[in-house]
Amino acid sequence: MPKLKIEGGHKLSGDILISGAKNSAVALLPASLLCTSKSKIVNLPKIRDIEYLLKILKVVNCDYKIKENIIEVYTTNLTNNPIPEHLSEQMRASYYFMGTLLARFKHIEISFPGGCNIGARPIDLHIKGFEALGATVTIIKNKYIIDAKELKGTTIHLDFPSVGATINLMLASSLAKGTTIIENAACEPEIGNVIDYLISMGLNIEGKNTNRIVIKGASSLDNGFISVCPDRIEASTYVILGALIGNNLKIKGINTEFIKSLLDTLKTCGVNFKELSNEIIISKCNNIKPIDIKTEVYPGFPTDTQPPFVTLLTQANGTSIITETIYESRFKFASLLNEMGANTESNGNILKVTGPTKLSPKTLYTPDLRGGAALVLAALITKGTTYLDNISLILRGYEDIVEKLTKVGAKISVIE
Ligand code: EPZ
Repeated sequence: MPKLKIEGGHKLSGDILISGAKNSAVALLPASLLCTSKSKIVNLPKIRDIEYLLKILKVVNCDYKIKENIIEVYTTNLTNNPIPEHLSEQMRASYYFMGTLLARFKHIEISFPGGCNIGARPIDLHIKGFEALGATVTIIKNKYIIDAKELKGTTIHLDFPSVGATINLMLASSLAKGTTIIENAACEPEIGNVIDYLISMGLNIEGKNTNRIVIKGASSLDNGFISVCPDRIEASTYVILGALIGNNLKIKGINTEFIKSLLDTLKTCGVNFKELSNEIIISKCNNIKPIDIKTEVYPGFPTDTQPPFVTLLTQANGTSIITETIYESRFKFASLLNEMGANTESNGNILKVTGPTKLSPKTLYTPDLRGGAALVLAALITKGTTYLDNISLILRGYEDIVEKLTKVGAKISVIE
């Protein structure tokens, strides 16, 4: 099994170019199946989740041509084959095929989705929404079978503004009869990116960046085109790294508006940086102030940025309190940080982090994608050599992480 070998303690300078957003790309690719003949996506990140989604496209007889970060998807020969467990369980986003294939064929069979082990992660809101549109959902063993004679527009109020449910219901209702209104919808930037893609296909959909999305079902959609928006979580991870060990580290190709909550929080912690419209230049902060933060839905502090931010707080002068409100089990990485010498203590959804602590190198496993990113940051600031196992979880979401970090002076490599 490949491992990451990280020899930390080297200041990082130069440019890191941010890739297309994982959480957008993993919805855009399945959304392509709504097109009758073809569509095109640019700035597609080359990450493990996308590799698996491409395998699912093959299962449903969807052709594609991929060159660097551009993909053309051909849907003329689409066949509604069941999506098997060995593919669906590789990631959360396999559930977006429910929305698209239900819209196209009024029937879908798919095994349970997978994803990082950070909480229970039910998909009841997706299911209730499909049912409200007129579908019947049956679970047989570990498989969802969803059928509809007809999908009919309706008003769906989400009990929680779930990212996945909002996108899945936009996809499912795109070819439904009449108008669907999604109330209490999530409004993360990735949802706006999907809305733009659906508009390019010819869908009449309104409510981008709001909590109320109105979809007028189309009879057919085609010729979608979209550029994947910058990955705000990848950007946040590297901005935090700059605050830990940067020397004029430049994070480029971002939308600073997307990471406003992180930037505001960094300012409160006394971290200085230069902000231009689409880049941040940041250096090591020698006097990080502790802070209390709470993860929230967008535009609040993102749960996905919480683990790398905890690594920063291990170097703050005093005690910080983190309240994780989105997932029940997102502090596994913190006990691994403790093995390196950090001082964190979790109690339910609250984590207490006391710094500054000197970290020592260790051999650790990657608990999940963002927890893995937190450990990579910790290793990069730690003198000596840290080894991280199970790195496929990190490669799920960070394009060319080794190459990007090497280019700015990190000593990091993949070893067998
Ligand atoms: C998306 O997950 C992201 N994944 C997650 O990214 C991210 O953490 C999350 O949104 C929140 O921003 C993808 O886009 C593939 P939710 P999603 O539905 O859509 C509960 C990463 O590290 N809930 O907004 O699954 C759920 O259990 C990952 O990149 C229900 O109870 O998130 C969770 O507690 C991890 N019922 C909360 O809502 C439902 O039907 C938020 O989930 C749906 C969700």
